[in-house]
Amino acid sequence: MAKILVTGGCGFIGSHTIVDLLENGFEVISIDDFSRSTQIAITGIEKITGKKIKNYSVDLKNFEETQAVFMEHTDIDGIIHFAAYKAVGESVEEPILYYENNLFGLVNLLKCVQEFGIPNIVFSSSCTVYGNPDAIPVTEITPIKPAESPYGATKQMGEVIIRDFTKANATNAILLRYFNPVGAHPSIHIGELPIGKPQNLVPAITQTAIGKLPKMKVHGNDYDTRDGSCIRDYIHVSDIAHAHTLAIQYLTSEKNETACDVFNLGTGNGVSVLEAIQTFEKVSGVKLNYEIGPRRAGDVVAIYANNDAAVNKLGWKIQYGITEMMDTAWKWELHLQSLEKQMKEN
Ligand code: WQD
Repeated sequence: MAKILVTGGCGFIGSHTIVDLLENGFEVISIDDFSRSTQIAITGIEKITGKKIKNYSVDLKNFEETQAVFMEHTDIDGIIHFAAYKAVGESVEEPILYYENNLFGLVNLLKCVQEFGIPNIVFSSSCTVYGNPDAIPVTEITPIKPAESPYGATKQMGEVIIRDFTKANATNAILLRYFNPVGAHPSIHIGELPIGKPQNLVPAITQTAIGKLPKMKVHGNDYDTRDGSCIRDYIHVSDIAHAHTLAIQYLTSEKNETACDVFNLGTGNGVSVLEAIQTFEKVSGVKLNYEIGPRRAGDVVAIYANNDAAVNKLGWKIQYGITEMMDTAWKWELHLQSLEKQMKEN
């Protein structure tokens, strides 16, 4: 049974990916320092799969502690690297926090990949690397433009570091460029756990709908789009998760065409902010309390994916549409509310 190390395994996409790996016969260990996640994810993974997960509470910026995990597990067949900070707005205010955490962590991990000869690595990249594209949908060869935020810059730099690493080492890599991951596992045992006030659209919608937030703002409706609001390619987190399993299988079966293949992970459908809100209202039956506010700095006007490469080469089949994304996101928010009530009563 191939063993996969997942860094950031207790985070939103990491936890969903561990579920998918376990359901596809992989053995999994996790490294997560809980700086942006909680043990709730581990409990949820175990409820869904019935399997215990070993997580090492290690900060990848601590080389010795990271190296110790590799010394304990000398049979790692592949790594999926999620562990990074990912709030666009925070990265603008705290650039050094992002460069230090995201890049130092990656370099330490790659030093272990080199020392222990790990054959495969999958990197959590982002559509942010495209900046504001001149043409959409974007393909994997759409020119990379200056990143709109330090977060996006760390993803661009991460891709360059990994590409150079694979040129100098026997390790093969895959870069997965996510569009906008949303929703929750259909079991509703795991989902997104934003820390503090949510920056991303869907948790802002669900927290407003449930009353955690009094109102939400639509950041601008005067863009040159069909309804004036920004367009994104929302993709269900479980579809994103399965693409990671397919990427690992693609590498371990040596189907990769280069030492560093790249894939867009999006549905190929653009959805506007106002359309996302309308879908949510239809699915939940809740009228959302929102107002139109000013544009948000750093926002890309419109972006969505050409996903042909992932579909044709990885064999990726998208299971969920925008309705299921909103439905599972809402059910997860309701589940969190019941969890919080239980904790208050105990
Ligand atoms: C989407 C749209 C907002 C909140 C970022 C990263 C990307 C990925 C997802 C990691 C924008 C609008 C939002 C609100 C709003 N990260 N919005 N009111 O910025 O497209 O992508 O998160 O995987 O790499 O760049 O996502 O959800 O923040 O915004 O109107 O309260 O929703 O302005 O147009 P974004 P987002």
